[in-house]
Amino acid sequence: MPATPTFSTIRHEIAGVSVADIARDYGTPTYVYDAAIIEERIDDLAKFDVIRYAQKACSNIAILDLMRKKGVVVDAVSTGEIHRAMAAGYKPGSKNHEIVYTADIFDRDALATVVKLDIPVNCGSPDMLDQLGAVKPGAHVTLRINPGFGHGHSQKTNTGGEQSKHGIWHEQLTDCLQKADRHGLMISGIHMHIGSGTDLEHLSQVCSAMERVVLEVGRSITTISAGGGLPIPYNDKQTYVDLDQYFELWDASRKRLEAALGHKISLEIEPGRYLVAESGYLVSEIRAIKQMGNNTFYLLDAGFNNLARPILYGSYHPMSIVPLDAGERADRDVVVGGPLCESGDIFTQEEGGYVCKRSLPSARIGEYLVLERAGAYGFVMASNYNSKPLAAEVLIKNGTAHLVRERQTPADLIRGERLLDG
Ligand code: LLP
Repeated sequence: MPATPTFSTIRHEIAGVSVADIARDYGTPTYVYDAAIIEERIDDLAKFDVIRYAQKACSNIAILDLMRKKGVVVDAVSTGEIHRAMAAGYKPGSKNHEIVYTADIFDRDALATVVKLDIPVNCGSPDMLDQLGAVKPGAHVTLRINPGFGHGHSQKTNTGGEQSKHGIWHEQLTDCLQKADRHGLMISGIHMHIGSGTDLEHLSQVCSAMERVVLEVGRSITTISAGGGLPIPYNDKQTYVDLDQYFELWDASRKRLEAALGHKISLEIEPGRYLVAESGYLVSEIRAIKQMGNNTFYLLDAGFNNLARPILYGSYHPMSIVPLDAGERADRDVVVGGPLCESGDIFTQEEGGYVCKRSLPSARIGEYLVLERAGAYGFVMASNYNSKPLAAEVLIKNGTAHLVRERQTPADLIRGERLLDG
């Protein structure tokens, strides 16, 4: 398990590279990732037979390539994610299922693509079984089961229970087995993912639900997936899950199932956040400091178009200031916001309030503010709202910064748009 993090509100470097140099070379806002942190997090999970990265957390092809070189396989929730995985060197249709399509629906394009490329499917709805069975009878599939309970860091990231649209409802398992039978589909695995950013107590409840389902399906099962959901600490009150304890719970379930079914079962884990959240930093420049009555606002050139988690979930991200001189910096209580024409474009909106104050060092215009632990669900949830270009992405490996995505240009923003004739 990683060491408890310390959070500092002053920072000069990321992975040994000066933040000011990154800002000068690539501009701001820019996402910066530290490859070494991702590699460490992968190693933390080495006891699982298969680490399947939920690439929706951060799908830059350079990050996927890094995962692939460390032996991590991927899931894909769309044709776009299949395309990304292949661009990073993953082989569709490979024996070890390097890419699995996992979703609650097939759009028409995704169905055609998984059939054409022979990509295994994790079905999250009974309709997917019908749609796949109609065009690929005999296929091996896994079932994503909603065990009837779930938990996440927010209700919006809870993916189990009857308020969730995800997975096959556990009481419909028998119907689905009959459906699969009718289509000649072979059910080779069961998958459960109850939510994102949850805790050990909820994660461990999944083991017994998994055992019940696998025993009902029977001997065809050769893989079980614990899903993702592992939390990371975003502040000093939050903790990691004890990974040894978590693995042991799953390993014990796996062993009981192996004894009952009489063959080996492969144990997968499917993390997103755990692998990439801590590696990512959003570097922004402070462009205005405003006093509004009792509130001091630091206004950045990054907004919720770049990092949506605070506005969507009230999520807390640690922040640090990059001072450009050696002077003393007293702390002050500030509200941190972005450039968008929308009052909610505020990064300090922890649950319970949308304009909260944060104690940060005094800063000057032109200095940088780094939003930390932003590697998961950061860039991938960005938008072009207010016609802001998507940020650049930089990956630091062995002390060297590499541009892995160019900042969008104004021409990118209108690509594909058409004026009416005349
Ligand atoms: N597997 C499945 C089927 C999932 O739907 C997800 C996440 C994962 C694995 C990975 O979960 P993780 O290990 O990252 O918790 N945008 C939200 C999180 C949404 C999660 C979506 N599904 C956030 O920023 O917190």
